[in-house]
Amino acid sequence: MELHERIPNNVNLSGDKRLQRALEKWLPNYLDWWREMGPEGFQEKDVWLRTAVSVEADGWAHFDYVKMPDYRWGIFLKPAEADARVGFGDHMGQPAYQEVPGEFRNALRRIVVTQADTEPASVEQQRRLGSTCPSLYDLRNLFQVNVEEGRHLWAMVYLLHGYFGRDGRDEADALLERRSGNPDKPRILEAFNQPCDDWLNFFCFTMFTDRDGKYQLSALAESGFEPLARTCQFMLTEEAHHLFVGETGVGRVVRRTAQLMKQSPEEDVRHLGGIPFDVIQRYINYWFSYSLDLFGGEISSNAADFFAAGLKGRYQEQKKYAEHVLRDDTFTLTVVDGGRLAEREVPMRNALNEVLRGEYVRDCERALERWNKYIADEGVEHTLRLPSTRFHRHVGEFAGHHFDVDGRMISAEEFETRKDEWLPTLADREYVQSLMRPVTEPGKIANWIAPPATGIKGKPFEFEYVRL
Ligand SMILES: [Fe+2]
Ligand SMILES: [Fe+2]
Repeated sequence: MELHERIPNNVNLSGDKRLQRALEKWLPNYLDWWREMGPEGFQEKDVWLRTAVSVEADGWAHFDYVKMPDYRWGIFLKPAEADARVGFGDHMGQPAYQEVPGEFRNALRRIVVTQADTEPASVEQQRRLGSTCPSLYDLRNLFQVNVEEGRHLWAMVYLLHGYFGRDGRDEADALLERRSGNPDKPRILEAFNQPCDDWLNFFCFTMFTDRDGKYQLSALAESGFEPLARTCQFMLTEEAHHLFVGETGVGRVVRRTAQLMKQSPEEDVRHLGGIPFDVIQRYINYWFSYSLDLFGGEISSNAADFFAAGLKGRYQEQKKYAEHVLRDDTFTLTVVDGGRLAEREVPMRNALNEVLRGEYVRDCERALERWNKYIADEGVEHTLRLPSTRFHRHVGEFAGHHFDVDGRMISAEEFETRKDEWLPTLADREYVQSLMRPVTEPGKIANWIAPPATGIKGKPFEFEYVRL
């Protein structure tokens, strides 16, 4: 570990002067971007953050107060395995790629850039949330997520600089130029251009959109391109906390709503300052559907090519599966054919986006079950649910068609008349926004959300996670 270098790393950066110089040139541009587009209004505050200092399973992180611009963003890869091999596809069993194979160069660059672009995008989407935090605990978690997305950008920029030569450097610069939601220079993926301007949006984003990230990173953690696999393996360690923030965040909102309903069963929870279940449901529908799009088309030649090349595997490819070539396997999925739903059998490799999406959906269902249990625990009768995976899609087989939340095909007119039942309305957003008042006294929390079960890393909820 080179922890005390300008750029902390475990890739022996000081042994590669050219790369080190290139990244040290990129560093001030990154810091300019962070100051301009990072969390607004809190850059000079002490935040109790974890910083990666090792890649060992135990004790990889150090917790202390730090001002965000002084955060030690570093480049950390899981250690290389001796004699690593390509684990799937047409090149299975061959030595893993330590350099970018020429024939896959464009595909790999596209994979890395697309992943990289999401990291700064989410920081931009979340930059104004600090001023309306429900508690210091939540404020700290927001900033923890933000600095680690910044580190994930570093992880990807290292690959671009280190393995893609000139065009990699250009791509690294462009990552600091695009802006979430900017019509002239938007971020690459649509979910990362959606506004995330209230805390229910933030929790849904970290629940649903960051969770897509988990599955993408997991698929890339299997990659035969070793530096990418090892980078993603370590990013997943950090990502777990982001998903925790999202899942428990929405869960705490759900719990609070149920508590308020139990307290005064006759009253509209709005009068009690809570967020009604129908509003929460519409937020779930919105973020779940946008996040499903991130997996790409149901039938995809890119997915097939990436798998064949050994670049992108399935979720837990090595752990979960015995067969890693998939040359003759097929997969049956639902498509739109001649204006109606039909089953179609396609080569398995072409269906791998859908296979990965299926893993994701099951994971989301598990979270929904947990939230519904919180509601039941309070003795309230209500069930939250995921909409059909066909609902409100902008990418793939179902884009351009209309479906209700049960997946029934409907006309554009019917969708238009009923969409306020299913997707957040302006009134929903304004109502949620009206609840967003900062609570910054240690140990206090906003009325629309329940406190967490425990604090961070053994600290109590009352701990002063951010010194204001
Ligand atoms: Fe990330
Ligand atoms: Fe994340």
